[in-house]
Amino acid sequence: MASLASQSMHFGLVALLTYFKFLLLIQCVQSVSLSIITDKEALISFKSQLSLLTPSPLSSWNQDSSPCNWTGVVCNIFGRRVTGLDLSGLRLEGTLSPHIGNLSFLRSLQLQNNQLRGPLPLQITNLFRLRVVNMSANKLEGGIPMNITNLVELEILDLMRNQISGTIPEELSRLKNLKVLNLARNLLWGEISPSIANISLLNDLNLGTNNLTGTVPSDISRLKNLKILDLTINNLIGSVPSSIYNMSSLVYLGLASNRLWGRLPSDVGDKLPNLLDFNFCINQFTGTIPGSLHNLTNIQIIRMAHNFLEGTVPPGLGNLPFLEMYNIGFNRIVSSGDDGLAFLTSLTNSTRLSFLAIDGNLLEGVIPESIGSLSKELSKLYMGGNRIFGKIPKSIGRLRSLTLLNLSYNAVSGEIPVEIGQLEEQQFLGLAGNQISGSIPNSIGNLEKLNQIDLSGNELEGEIPSTFGKFHRLLSMDLSNNRLNGSIPKEILSLGSLSTILNLSNNFLDGRLHQEVQRLENVVTIDLSNNRLSGDIPSSFKNCKSLEKLLMANNMLSGPIPSTLGEVKGLEVLDLSSNQLSGSIPSDLQDLQALRSLNLTFNNLQGLIPTGGVFRNFSSVHLEGNVNLCLHLVCPENAQSRGRLVKIYISVAIAATIAFILLIAMLIIVRKNKGKIIPASELSIKKLQMISYEELRQATGNFNQENLVGSGSFGSVYKGYLREGISIAVKVFDIKKNWILEELPCRVWSFKKCEAPKSCEIVDIML
Ligand SMILES: *[C@@H]1O[C@H](CO)[C@@H](O)[C@H](O)[C@H]1NC(C)=O
Ligand SMILES: *[C@@H]1O[C@H](CO)[C@@H](O)[C@H](O)[C@H]1NC(C)=O
Ligand SMILES: *[C@@H]1O[C@H](CO)[C@@H](O)[C@H](O)[C@H]1NC(C)=O
Ligand SMILES: *[C@@H]1O[C@H](CO)[C@@H](O)[C@H](O)[C@H]1NC(C)=O
Ligand SMILES: *[C@@H]1O[C@H](CO)[C@@H](O)[C@H](O)[C@H]1NC(C)=O
Ligand SMILES: *[C@@H]1O[C@H](CO)[C@@H](O)[C@H](O)[C@H]1NC(C)=O
Ligand SMILES: *[C@@H]1O[C@H](CO)[C@@H](O)[C@H](O)[C@H]1NC(C)=O
Ligand SMILES: *[C@@H]1O[C@H](CO)[C@@H](O)[C@H](O)[C@H]1NC(C)=O
Ligand SMILES: *[C@@H]1O[C@H](CO)[C@@H](O)[C@H](O)[C@H]1NC(C)=O
Ligand SMILES: *[C@@H]1O[C@H](CO)[C@@H](O)[C@H](O)[C@H]1NC(C)=O
Ligand SMILES: *[C@@H]1O[C@H](CO)[C@@H](O)[C@H](O)[C@H]1NC(C)=O
Ligand SMILES: *[C@@H]1O[C@H](CO)[C@@H](O)[C@H](O)[C@H]1NC(C)=O
Repeated sequence: MASLASQSMHFGLVALLTYFKFLLLIQCVQSVSLSIITDKEALISFKSQLSLLTPSPLSSWNQDSSPCNWTGVVCNIFGRRVTGLDLSGLRLEGTLSPHIGNLSFLRSLQLQNNQLRGPLPLQITNLFRLRVVNMSANKLEGGIPMNITNLVELEILDLMRNQISGTIPEELSRLKNLKVLNLARNLLWGEISPSIANISLLNDLNLGTNNLTGTVPSDISRLKNLKILDLTINNLIGSVPSSIYNMSSLVYLGLASNRLWGRLPSDVGDKLPNLLDFNFCINQFTGTIPGSLHNLTNIQIIRMAHNFLEGTVPPGLGNLPFLEMYNIGFNRIVSSGDDGLAFLTSLTNSTRLSFLAIDGNLLEGVIPESIGSLSKELSKLYMGGNRIFGKIPKSIGRLRSLTLLNLSYNAVSGEIPVEIGQLEEQQFLGLAGNQISGSIPNSIGNLEKLNQIDLSGNELEGEIPSTFGKFHRLLSMDLSNNRLNGSIPKEILSLGSLSTILNLSNNFLDGRLHQEVQRLENVVTIDLSNNRLSGDIPSSFKNCKSLEKLLMANNMLSGPIPSTLGEVKGLEVLDLSSNQLSGSIPSDLQDLQALRSLNLTFNNLQGLIPTGGVFRNFSSVHLEGNVNLCLHLVCPENAQSRGRLVKIYISVAIAATIAFILLIAMLIIVRKNKGKIIPASELSIKKLQMISYEELRQATGNFNQENLVGSGSFGSVYKGYLREGISIAVKVFDIKKNWILEELPCRVWSFKKCEAPKSCEIVDIML
């Protein structure tokens, strides 16, 4: 009985327990479903603040299914809570909903590469389980919320390429688990707090391209795990604390484009044995090139252009098999004697070298024959502005990947080697300002990818090769200041791609100008001054719709000024002085609204001087030396009767003199103003290179609206990314035409577009 009773009691107990368990389970299920419902609601309201493409990339996000099945949503293994959200690159537009702060189990939030704008909602700082936050490449604004310190588990914070402003909150240093802190390319200002060194696990610190001021805190050297330190393009001043050169973990050290000074320690390579990328360009560093860098056998990039470095190139360049870029341009590096450039021979061991710049120094020497043994990958070779002499070695023809060769402003002599025609990838050939003689080899015509050719200021003679007609991508040609003779090949006047300048001035070119000149539809400046050209001015100039400057002074051109010049609406400067032009001044020139300088002096022009348009402004028009010109009121019946004209001639001459003085004054003012406007950094713009339409198209994602920064009467501005993560901004007038990519030292790039009626314009400069 007792046992029965106890048995039944036991049974009852078990039943009771089971019932409780059941109750508990129900509660549990209820709480779970509540949470997933919270997550779902949060995601739905997150979605509701976005404007989405059609078809919507978030079409799977609907009330009927579990959020764990939605695009970009990750739940924990039981499928109960949302732990990850990865919506990168879905072209999401809109602001971030504060409801995102309800995803309380979230560990990873990846919204990079979208168009999200507005501030980071404070509620994000409730997500204390977050480990990864990547919101790079959006349009987020506002500051970094202080309460971000709640995210104690955060390991990655990547907010690169947004418009985040304000200072870097000191509180960030409480994020002890942070390994990656990337705030580059934002609008941050203020100083870098030394407390940042308290984030002891940090291995990637990128604060580049902001507006940070103050000095580089020496505390940073306490970051014993730091591999990447990028402080490029800021306003940092002062000397670099020596402790920074002690951070042996560093793989990348970028301080370029600040206002830092001090001697570069010669043992930097010994102290930073893991360094692969060293970028100290555009600062005020002194001392010599640290030879110890040449001891780092794995190093890939060495850049210290635009500083005040002195001394010679230290030995050891033969030890760098992985070197890709060596840039010591625009310093005060010296060398002397015939063998002054022997260090180039050592670089033949660097089989991956693609960029070599030694320009703007005091290097003396002959280009070694071994230049042809440099890397097969060598794409850019800058040697201009030194004291290089002797001939260009034939071996240069072996550098088949070369896209840019700049030897300008040296003392190079001898002839241009025929072998240069083998460099079929060339886009820029600059040999200006040397003593190169002989004739231009026909083989240069093989360089069909050329964008720019500058052979000006040499002693070249003979004819311009008609093979130049093969330059179908040429944007500018400067052959001025040589001794070229013969006529201008009509093939050159047919180069429709020419869009900045055709400069053949100061040569001995003769013969007539062909009607073909009409093909030069895109060119902004044509300068044929100081030659021996004869015959008529072709009326077909009217088709050169982009022309702003037409300079043909000091030739033997005859016949009338074609009235069709009045159709070149953008013409600003027309100089036909010192020719043998006759007939009257076409009244159509009055219609040229943009014309601000007209020089027709010393010709045989006659008849009435028009009175409208540019002719209203005496200071813009120069007519002296044309004895038969007359003003309307005093024009004799017979324009040939001289007597009364003398007076007019004198008065015109006086007016012209006054005008000349005014012009000089104006020029001085304009110069002064220019000097004020252009910041020093832009004055150092030295290197031009072309980018093809195709490259541009790729860089901007086929001119994707997503990359459209703004548009207006000026055209449209796109942002884009070129190779190697180079960021660009481009202004598009006509996307079918070519662009000029301006390369600043150390690969700070900017775009220039040259198109009439506006000439080249720098659009933006970024790294
Ligand atoms: C996810 O979708 C699949 C079918 O598409 C379905 O079988 C599964 O039950 C769904 N899971 C959840 C948690 O909704
Ligand atoms: C979710 O977040 C919003 C805004 O932060 C808040 O108003 C709401 O009460 C939250 N909902 C839940 C279920 O927690
Ligand atoms: C953030 O996303 C971008 C774009 O996908 C990626 O390149 C970058 O490496 C990510 N950041 C981190 C720290 O992983
Ligand atoms: C920041 O977090 C603290 C607690 O960590 C809280 O008291 C405070 O209200 C939060 N501030 C904001 C603006 O959310
Ligand atoms: C760094 O952390 C230590 C203790 O963790 C603290 O005493 C110190 O004030 C912090 N330094 C800065 C600069 O915040
Ligand atoms: C950067 O900071 C300097 C000095 O604080 C200031 O003069 C300048 O206007 C700032 N530039 C930008 C782009 O904010
Ligand atoms: C650099 O490190 C060495 C060895 O760790 C140390 O003795 C020296 O004081 C450090 N120098 C600086 C400037 O921090
Ligand atoms: C390069 O390394 C060698 C051997 O380790 C050493 O003898 C030499 O002094 C170093 N050169 C420089 C410039 O540091
Ligand atoms: C190239 O490297 C080899 C082996 O590493 C070395 O012996 C040679 O001297 C180097 N050449 C030059 C020009 O430095
Ligand atoms: C051009 O100059 C070369 C060398 O100075 C001379 O031989 C040739 O006859 C000249 N040609 C013409 C057409 O004047
Ligand atoms: C006009 O042409 C003459 C002759 O070529 C020249 O001397 C004068 O400087 C020119 N004037 C202007 C303002 O360009
Ligand atoms: C070529 O080098 C010279 C001298 O350094 C410089 O003036 C010129 O701008 C350079 N041209 C290009 C396209 O790099």
